[in-house]
Amino acid sequence: MHRLHPARVLVTGGAGFLGSHLCARLLEGGADVLCADNFSTGTRDNVLPLLDHRGFELVRHDICQPLHVEVDEIYNLACPASPVHYQVDPLQTFKTCVHGAQNMLGLARRLKAKVLQASTSEVYGDPDFHPQKESYWGNVNPTGPRSCYDEGKRCAETLCFDYRRMHGIRIKVARIFNTFGPRMNPADGRVVSNFIVQALTGQPLTIYGEGHQTRSFCYVDDLLEGCVRLMATPDEVTGPINLGNPHELQVRELATTILRLTGSRSPLVFKPLPVDDPRRRRPDITLANETLGWRPTASLEAGLVKTIEYFDRLLGTPGYKIPAGVNGHAKQHVA
Ligand SMILES: NC(=O)c1ccc[n+]([C@@H]2O[C@H](COP(=O)([O-])OP(=O)(O)OC[C@H]3O[C@@H](n4cnc5c(N)ncnc54)[C@H](O)[C@@H]3O)[C@@H](O)[C@H]2O)c1
Repeated sequence: MHRLHPARVLVTGGAGFLGSHLCARLLEGGADVLCADNFSTGTRDNVLPLLDHRGFELVRHDICQPLHVEVDEIYNLACPASPVHYQVDPLQTFKTCVHGAQNMLGLARRLKAKVLQASTSEVYGDPDFHPQKESYWGNVNPTGPRSCYDEGKRCAETLCFDYRRMHGIRIKVARIFNTFGPRMNPADGRVVSNFIVQALTGQPLTIYGEGHQTRSFCYVDDLLEGCVRLMATPDEVTGPINLGNPHELQVRELATTILRLTGSRSPLVFKPLPVDDPRRRRPDITLANETLGWRPTASLEAGLVKTIEYFDRLLGTPGYKIPAGVNGHAKQHVA
């Protein structure tokens, strides 16, 4: 259907890594974008280039509180996404997942707007089945240190489906797998940013366990293409739908690739595995491929090169300091 005027889109968490790329992309597509963020892990710097765009508005807002705005579509991305960040205040993380989702679904109900909920591969926990299909209900520890996020996101999915059943809300649930790219927070301990920053600053690359655990990494542009396509699907398409890159590799291999691409001579150091760290993680993207005609197109190396360039520039900015107590001191890196 052709729109008479561009959609007005709310992006919660729009000043974060994924959100800032999404805001830029939606603006390019002609939408008016309202970015709501409490800046807990995101920064104004991430959206600085967008502030002059006439279709862009930025508001400081915590989604645990109701938000009264007029929009047609809501991308609910607000939530700290790495263990280092979401474990700082697990109660706030859980509230953001649950009260935040409820507030956004309530807003969608009032406005008859569509909601895309950013869910996560963490809803599968430490999976018994590999690769993970949407039909798998998961193996999540409900009481561990990662539960505030994993169970919070599961609860947000439940809310989406109950709002749909009770109030007919148009929902789209995206189960996002590890995504990387420019504007990742250098301080949040995620494995790609950790390794790149360590390699560029000559610190040892920290590997947890022996590094044989596998992960699959999706480049940010690919992931957002999937999200935007999902939002544009007919109302009967609700998800949950996996979005991620099925190319699987060992964490150790990722480290050696980053050493090669940065030309770094940093050594590898091995530390004990964190609690509940999943051993394997790879999406089955058959459903996304059939429903959205989507699959990732960027190679890992091409994405890493762009990400390395970004961090190289960031670290070379005069006066720039990596936020204290994180990179190189991160308690663990993310799944
Ligand atoms: N990046 C990934 O690999 C990945 C994987 C799975 C799921 N996700 C999901 O995608 C979303 C975005 O992740 P990201 O990687 O961009 O993380 P991020 O930490 O860079 O961005 C999250 C943003 O949400 C904001 N925020 C946090 N709590 C808030 C609150 N209560 N109210 C308003 N704003 C709040 C933060 O300030 C930040 O700007 C998250 O919901 C995350 O769970 C990301």
